[in-house]
Amino acid sequence: MSDAGKMSHQEIRERIATLPRLDIALKNTPLEEARNLSRMLGGPRIFVKRDDLTGVALGGNKLRNLEFRLAHAMKDDPDTVIVGLDLQSNSARQTVGACNKLGLRTILVLEGQKPNNVQGNLLVDYLLGADVHFAANSRAQRAMLDSLAEDVRASGGRPHILNDNPMFDVASAVAYLEVTLEVVEQLDERGLRPGYFYMSSSGKGSAGILLAQKLLGDTFAMHAVCATDEFHLPSRTASIANQTSAALDLGITVSEDEVINTEAFVGNGYGVPSEAGDEAVRLFARTEGIILDPIYTGKAAAGLIADIRAGRFSQEDVVVFVHTGGTPAIFTWNELWL
Ligand SMILES: Cc1ncc(COP(=O)(O)O)c(C=O)c1O
Repeated sequence: MSDAGKMSHQEIRERIATLPRLDIALKNTPLEEARNLSRMLGGPRIFVKRDDLTGVALGGNKLRNLEFRLAHAMKDDPDTVIVGLDLQSNSARQTVGACNKLGLRTILVLEGQKPNNVQGNLLVDYLLGADVHFAANSRAQRAMLDSLAEDVRASGGRPHILNDNPMFDVASAVAYLEVTLEVVEQLDERGLRPGYFYMSSSGKGSAGILLAQKLLGDTFAMHAVCATDEFHLPSRTASIANQTSAALDLGITVSEDEVINTEAFVGNGYGVPSEAGDEAVRLFARTEGIILDPIYTGKAAAGLIADIRAGRFSQEDVVVFVHTGGTPAIFTWNELWL
């Protein structure tokens, strides 16, 4: 096998099957052609990979990740999962849903204050029955994770602090390596091949698609759009891809200059909607009935739309937009849509 990419889907799947895994997400999610959107933009053929439909607790990309991360956690036979995340975290919501499915209790330590009007992901966290705590900052959050774990232990329980689980990055990359195989097969059934992938990613999921790109012979390109500017994306993505290559014994190396991930659509910052992102949310909703979110997927779609408007594609190009979920945020930002 060389870097030119020479692994079959079956070989890649066999490598993925060497990792411990639980069955949590609905997989082989639909691939839907967005014909109206394409027509409206005068653009390429656009296919939406519906990973917002992964099932548990309103779906999203982290459910696929949790299949590997929680399988790793289960080695310690925990009865309680404790995790520290952001106040409106999609990951938190999906973690609670996944833990409910596995019969585990979940304690969330969210950074921020409890709002007067509980909405979006936080509302779903409560509905799912999580024990929700709030921490003023990341230091306080860390201290609370440890003290809550101690409390669980003191009352005879077996806590697992998910923030200390080493699988987070690699689990997402493996998951989206597999998603790429699903997409290539779904397009193949229609006699098509992907030319470009677009996805909201800070380097974890996109590392998996980049690995797939190289393993399958570099016939398509991965364009990530990041919702935050807190990372050096080329080094982070290459490092996650290379850790994943090692974990699966893929024998390939990704270098920083192969990474395409733009911060140009962050707008006024992480967690804050942007004009371009909101326009994309409206456009997908009004042409296709597909609900994106203003924090992640709307900004990624804005990146795709900008490239279409810049004349980057031909009408025959096949572009895959991976919908990573996050839809509960439309309720947190309700006034944007009125
Ligand atoms: C809806 C949504 N899309 C994309 C991402 C980014 O995913 P990653 O950086 O794991 O590829 C996240 C998580 O942070 C998310 O919640």
